[in-house]
Amino acid sequence: MNSRRKFITQSLGLAAGTALAPFLSSANSIPKPTMNLKEKLNVTLPSNYGLGGVAIGNGFRPTSDEQAQKALEGAWEAGVRFFDTSPFYGFGISERRFGRFLHNKNRNEYILATKVGRLLKPAKEAPSNGTWKEASPFTFEYDYSAEGVRRSIEDSLQRLGINSIDIVFIHDLSPENADMKDNWMDYFQVAAKGAMPELTKMREEGLIKGWGLGVNRIEPILETLKVAEPDICLSATQYSLMYHEDALKRLFPACEEKGVDIVSGAALNAGFLAGIDRYNYWGEMPEGYKEKRARMKEIAEKHGTDLRTAALQFAAAPKVVKAVIPGTRYPEQARENVESMKVKIPSDLWKELKEKKLISQHAPEPL
Ligand SMILES: NC(=O)c1ccc[n+]([C@@H]2O[C@H](COP(=O)([O-])OP(=O)(O)OC[C@H]3O[C@@H](n4cnc5c(N)ncnc54)[C@H](OP(=O)(O)O)[C@@H]3O)[C@@H](O)[C@H]2O)c1
Repeated sequence: MNSRRKFITQSLGLAAGTALAPFLSSANSIPKPTMNLKEKLNVTLPSNYGLGGVAIGNGFRPTSDEQAQKALEGAWEAGVRFFDTSPFYGFGISERRFGRFLHNKNRNEYILATKVGRLLKPAKEAPSNGTWKEASPFTFEYDYSAEGVRRSIEDSLQRLGINSIDIVFIHDLSPENADMKDNWMDYFQVAAKGAMPELTKMREEGLIKGWGLGVNRIEPILETLKVAEPDICLSATQYSLMYHEDALKRLFPACEEKGVDIVSGAALNAGFLAGIDRYNYWGEMPEGYKEKRARMKEIAEKHGTDLRTAALQFAAAPKVVKAVIPGTRYPEQARENVESMKVKIPSDLWKELKEKKLISQHAPEPL
């Protein structure tokens, strides 16, 4: 029977012996820093924007296969070459759709990220509520062990129909995850001994280009920096026009010190800053946020731009942030978002937002 390692090694055409040796010598140990982080970084994103895979995976409302295909085509034509998906998005739908689109493209032309931490299992019915609408009939089990990560990547490769993944994010290992809450550190300990050293080995063997966390709070990333050497983390919901102080004060300096890059997820707060009355993923609208959004929208328009454009550029502005990855359901949205990353926004807009205390005085301004 093929081992997980052999499966992934063969899929990339690497020598099995070279891949196996480091695995056997240091399995289950928390990695010690071995080299200058800056020297080992081997993930270069093609631009400061990409495409997030929540809407493509039936996030918030159903999307047909055809609609998803058109959205991906629109994004590709607009120049998007960085794609982020997850087994969790629609319980496999998002990965299948990304794979269906990307498997015909030249593998060297794009960067693909997916996630680990949940293994999908066939179920009688699709899950009936939550973020995913008309999802595939699967359920999941959390697995942050070394073996679980191998299995998850193997499953993702098969769903995608693509023989390699560039960036692997350890997904939703975080206190706001309703399945974990106060016990999230128990899961974290499993990952610190399992997923993290395993992904580090996979990176060293050239099976992946980099790894990190994909989470909606900053604490899990800060804890990871203490025990492992991630390359790049997907920090979602923590750096947007609406909410950013904590990331600015604590997350970004810590990542900069360790040479860890950030991808900023949910820069539009799940559509809120594009004008949709939906804030993030938990069904709550924080008090005063609609009023704050209305004030910022008015100021953005006074300075000749729109709030969505300002939101995307704001989230991409810190030096440590390498890309924003707005989710899109339609080709027009993808085109608009790419255009938004290219326009010059008058600096007076940021000045006024700071004067009116709508954003942090210390927030980096887009150039
Ligand atoms: N824990 C994690 O690792 C984590 C958590 C969250 C997000 N992420 C990643 O970050 C990505 C971005 O987050 P997200 O997609 O949830 O939220 P988002 O990027 O903040 O907002 C996406 C939504 O905004 C609307 N939108 C986008 N462009 C628009 C445009 N030009 N005009 C009007 N509306 C527009 C769409 O809503 P409609 O679809 O309703 O039209 C879209 O689904 C995700 O897709 C995922 O890849 C990761």
